[in-house]
Amino acid sequence: MSLRARVPPLGTLARMTSYPFRSALVTGASSGIGEAMTRELAAAGVPTVVVARRQDRLDELADELDGIEVLAADLTDAGGQATVVERVRDGDAPVELVVNNAGFGTSGRFHELDADRLADEIELNIAALTRISNAAISAMVPRGVGWLLNVSSVASFQPAPDLAVYAATKAYVTSLSESLHEEVKGSGINVTALCPGLTRTEFQSVSSTEQYVTQFPRFLWTTAEDVARTGLRDVAANRTISVPGTLYKAVVGLGGPIPRGLKRRLSGLVQRQ
Ligand SMILES: NC(=O)c1ccc[n+]([C@@H]2O[C@H](COP(=O)([O-])OP(=O)(O)OC[C@H]3O[C@@H](n4cnc5c(N)ncnc54)[C@H](OP(=O)(O)O)[C@@H]3O)[C@@H](O)[C@H]2O)c1
Repeated sequence: MSLRARVPPLGTLARMTSYPFRSALVTGASSGIGEAMTRELAAAGVPTVVVARRQDRLDELADELDGIEVLAADLTDAGGQATVVERVRDGDAPVELVVNNAGFGTSGRFHELDADRLADEIELNIAALTRISNAAISAMVPRGVGWLLNVSSVASFQPAPDLAVYAATKAYVTSLSESLHEEVKGSGINVTALCPGLTRTEFQSVSSTEQYVTQFPRFLWTTAEDVARTGLRDVAANRTISVPGTLYKAVVGLGGPIPRGLKRRLSGLVQRQ
């Protein structure tokens, strides 16, 4: 399907947000935050390439929404990464906003976890994100315009015992994105790390953290829709770090002066509740 924007029905104009990007690519668009971003972009009339493994879910989105191009790919796989890189570099149908959202976690004691699963987690959360970021920025530099939104987590700001590899991968994502933000400053390219807190998606079943849903009170949960809108608004405004929700903004903002050792112990207490 072509990436040409279609004119939305008049009734939707009043609730439409206007974004500066005219095309997008979202990884992990088959559920949760990525799906919510895709819906938000479609409502704003931004044609979007959607990436994930479950092609049936992506096809359903394409049937329902205007301007969707489906790209089924496994991003833990070199071939899948190459397919997405090639699409991001395609100068005939430029992608102005790239969202590296696909990611997963694994909970449990590090020594008891499956090493192959952890390797896949690192491949997806770090290696694929780095490769796609590299392709995105190198395509954007000659154009002098572009937006890159990397989905990290509030878990990137402190260690997380029992989610150790996940927090470490997200620390990498926040650090990389902050560095890139500075590197490309003044070039017309915007780079933002989106750092959500607890968000009810398939993440909990995939990472075996379903107990969080009853363990943590309702006010700590954000919706995928709020996270998606905040991230898109903040990358459009070229914010370095985007933290959805007043509570999480305060926690992250206050996090600076807390000694590292204390943060680590507090995080351990929360995880093992
Ligand atoms: N939910 C939270 O509480 C939370 C908090 C902070 C940060 N985050 C981050 O938010 C991002 C989105 O997660 P979510 O909460 O929306 O979880 P989700 O509902 O599980 O969505 C994850 C998405 O990633 C895709 N994906 C997983 N493995 C993939 C692979 N090998 N290749 C291509 N795509 C793959 C999944 O699609 P397929 O299975 O179809 O491939 C799915 O579309 C992740 O980076 C996550 O770490 C989530």
